Amino acid sequence: VTVFVPRDSAALAVGADKVAAAIQREAEARGIDVHIVRNGSRGMLWLEVLVEVRTDHGRVAYGPVKASDVPSLFDASFLTGGNHRLCHGLTSEIPFLKNQTRLTFSRCGITDPLSLEDYRHYKGLTGLQKAVAMAPADIVKQVTDSGLRGRGGAGFPTGIKWKTVADARADQKYIVCNADEGDSGTFADRMIMEGDPFVLIEGMAIAGIAVGATKGYVYTRSEYPHAIAVMEEAIAIARREGILGSSVLGSAYAFDMEVRMGAGAYVCGEETSLLNSLEGKRGIVRAKPPLPALEGLFGKPTVVNNVMSLASIPVIMDRGAQFYRDYGVGRSHGTIPIQLAGNLKHGGLYETAFGLTLGQIVNEIGGGTISDRPVKAVQVGGPLGAYFPPALFDTVFDYEAFTAAGGLIGHAGIVVFDDTVDMLKQARFAMEFCAVESCGKCTPCRIGSTRGVETVDKIAQGIEPEKNKVLLEDLCNTMKFGSLCALGGFTPYPVMSALTHFPDDFAPAPVREAAE
Ligand code: NAI
Ligand code: SF4
Repeated sequence: VTVFVPRDSAALAVGADKVAAAIQREAEARGIDVHIVRNGSRGMLWLEVLVEVRTDHGRVAYGPVKASDVPSLFDASFLTGGNHRLCHGLTSEIPFLKNQTRLTFSRCGITDPLSLEDYRHYKGLTGLQKAVAMAPADIVKQVTDSGLRGRGGAGFPTGIKWKTVADARADQKYIVCNADEGDSGTFADRMIMEGDPFVLIEGMAIAGIAVGATKGYVYTRSEYPHAIAVMEEAIAIARREGILGSSVLGSAYAFDMEVRMGAGAYVCGEETSLLNSLEGKRGIVRAKPPLPALEGLFGKPTVVNNVMSLASIPVIMDRGAQFYRDYGVGRSHGTIPIQLAGNLKHGGLYETAFGLTLGQIVNEIGGGTISDRPVKAVQVGGPLGAYFPPALFDTVFDYEAFTAAGGLIGHAGIVVFDDTVDMLKQARFAMEFCAVESCGKCTPCRIGSTRGVETVDKIAQGIEPEKNKVLLEDLCNTMKFGSLCALGGFTPYPVMSALTHFPDDFAPAPVREAAE
């Protein structure tokens, strides 16, 4: 009997290793032969540890399982899909999973992440096989035609970035995967690296062939030890099996890659700062131009793409540009892996075509708050993203609609807060975060963020609140338009959205205390 127990960090954090050991122990004690596969996560984090059993009808899900539940699972004949209070029936029929459109995450949670046999069985490597038989310019065109835009947050067309690098003349070019997933409430990059590492390797190899780069780096954070271990093992397997190396899948193309670990500074997720860090220098932002596409790593033309962008390439090469492009709305094509976090009943990863409303995502998919109190604010796009009140829940999840509503999709992380949140404190936190994480290169961010914390404090203390609100807005404008990179430039989004949508929280102290 095959039993699946995830090896994803989210599952490990709630005892997956103990559950796997308990299943092994109990099976031995009962003289039953079980084969435990350590799969990736299905992304239903409220059900972790989600144990699955392969039956004749499909995989049956049990969760959240603790090691102490294991004897009762055996008593309930879970190895044949027996009923138990933790049973959810067939995994594929759980609405949260069933209603998704999984293109990038199609294999995540289904396969053994380090089994190349599994990877091939679920259509892995077909994109790369097609790519090695194509002219590089045609690969770039296919990616451009798919409408894929940078999933790290900026939404820049991936094909156009690749064309810039492909057209550059140089003796060496690089593919750099930005896996420095620093946004609060985001975990999609980590999940793919831990749950389906070959898809990232395949995407990077295709990128290398398309632009003429022979070397790739995955830059990730020290906080992701499990992702690093899985990626490194997968790269070793890919080398052994001729996917990476001097002849990619037996072709005339060469491509190899390695993983590099950063020290955890948020700003190292900014591409030029990342490149400095990768070169062994201090992670400080470089001025653009020159664009990394022309002068990137070690001064050479470099594609810097997020994990999600690169992991979406194989399906685009396999199924074609039009297949991918047909999903989504407006100029936001394809699917987006939304990461649901914060005060929600159903936190986890939900891949879907662009076009749902924010309200649908929070209330229907996320199931509303776990505290059962009303939602007050939703921060979309990480610590630099705007706070949305329920009044804006009809905002459609697409790049342009979010920009028009004064926010950003970013890396598609959503953090939900109920009515106990104090939005003045959240605004203060945004400024404080910027002050702590600032690389210090430019004045609006370095000085502005500290002055921002002080100004919010004055408002909280009732010191000339009206004058200080005007000052805060002025400061935000200076940071927004005068900062060199998105850290200083986007910090005004959470601050100004808090001030605009939740003015009551910025009332002078005596009023606030009376209200409480
Ligand atoms: P950007 O708009 O300056 O650039 C986007 C990308 O397009 C860059 O890679 C840039 O080099 C490239 N590019 C621009 N013009 C080009 C051209 N003509 N040819 C080739 N390439 C070109 O945005 P930036 O500063 O790179 O990213 C800001 C975004 O990062 C924000 O929108 C935010 O959502 C996101 N972000 C993501 C985080 C995460 O953890 N994933 C954390 C913080 C911010
Ligand atoms: Fe550095 Fe902040 Fe300026 Fe970005 S905005 S370059 S993080 S000081």
